[in-house]
Amino acid sequence: MVRSLFSARSFFRDPVGYVSAHGEDGAPLRLAAGPSRFVLVRDPQAVWRVLVTDADSFRPGKWKRRARRFVGNTLNTLDGEQHRRRRLLLQPSLDRRRIARFTPSIAARVEEAQRGWRDGARLRLRDELDRLSLAVAGEVLLSAELDPGLATSLAVVMAGVPCFTPPLPGTRAARALARVESSVTGLVGAGGSDDDLLSALLRGGLPERTARGEVIAFLLAAVDEPPSGLEAAWYLLGRSPGARERLEAELDEGRRDYLEAVLRETLRLFPPARHIDRCPVGNGRTNVVVSPLVTHHDPRLYERPSEFVAERWLRRDERPRGAYLPFGAGAHACIGEPLARAIMTETLGGIARRWRLHVDPDAPVPGSRAPRLEVTLERR
Ligand code: HEM
Repeated sequence: MVRSLFSARSFFRDPVGYVSAHGEDGAPLRLAAGPSRFVLVRDPQAVWRVLVTDADSFRPGKWKRRARRFVGNTLNTLDGEQHRRRRLLLQPSLDRRRIARFTPSIAARVEEAQRGWRDGARLRLRDELDRLSLAVAGEVLLSAELDPGLATSLAVVMAGVPCFTPPLPGTRAARALARVESSVTGLVGAGGSDDDLLSALLRGGLPERTARGEVIAFLLAAVDEPPSGLEAAWYLLGRSPGARERLEAELDEGRRDYLEAVLRETLRLFPPARHIDRCPVGNGRTNVVVSPLVTHHDPRLYERPSEFVAERWLRRDERPRGAYLPFGAGAHACIGEPLARAIMTETLGGIARRWRLHVDPDAPVPGSRAPRLEVTLERR
């Protein structure tokens, strides 16, 4: 049953609240937004079928098709054999072992970012995280030192996605996109080096326009996703003094298990990719939505689902597959996961060893529309 013609709007405003009010039985929820129809699939087994087992019965969803209009045919928006070929071409440049080679350099950048920090200073944390994450992505993906101002332009472009794709002419988003495009044109011209993403794209013989779109899509992900995960981690730690103390104590002893658990729990509560969409082959009107956000809050899968309990990840995880999917699953699962993990672990570990970041008690809950988190620095 479709609940109301505008139910999708209420759902996207507060997905977890909507689901707990309307769907205690776990069955798929049908939602509507004017003429569009969505089916929200929540059960881990059903999630797994959509993303993995029956993936051939689905095409990229509406949101991706919209993104295609402004970055062209990128990995994220391709399908079937074309997707498989592009993924094989790019995979080695994001491979776990290759990314591991950059760990010392990422750690050095994290140290460098803290150089000007002063005890008691206020900091717009997300700005720092965006610049850091972009600098790492520039080195790993393009073998380039990127202009830090590019982080701001990318953030402006990202804020307009997916509502205004492509951005309307004359808007701030359109000007930011023009700046991003011109920087990326220069970078693509420089050609990358060795085994990085850019040299793979050029080696693959892709048209320059496609290579540019692909680079932009990767940079957007790099500036949006790991910083948003890290911002949420500090928000949660700021409200859980016990967790923050345990993290500091373990870092001081050179241990990282709790750090990993904090990040896992953060990505459960605030998955940066809140929803993933697919379109069933032969039924263009109904979008199927898998929501990491909703599934991660299911009380049948997680005890005290809305609480930050990093310890739950220190025990053996016996949940069904499909219960935890911040990076998605199947053929389209996040290709940037090793890089994202390296950025998040080195940044959270490298900063929490030296600084305590205080969050105001009334700080806004992290989310795509939330203002950027401000923190007060305390040297440890
Ligand atoms: C915490 C950080 C991140 C999270 C939570 C995340 C999440 C996701 C998710 C859920 C998907 C699957 C989308 C789908 O199935 O439709 C995905 C795909 C993707 N991600 Fe990430 N991502 C993160 C970081 C990154 C980074 C740093 C990059 C780039 C360097 C990146 C690049 C991509 C690309 C290119 C795809 C498309 C893969 C494909 O379709 O084959 N992501 N990501």
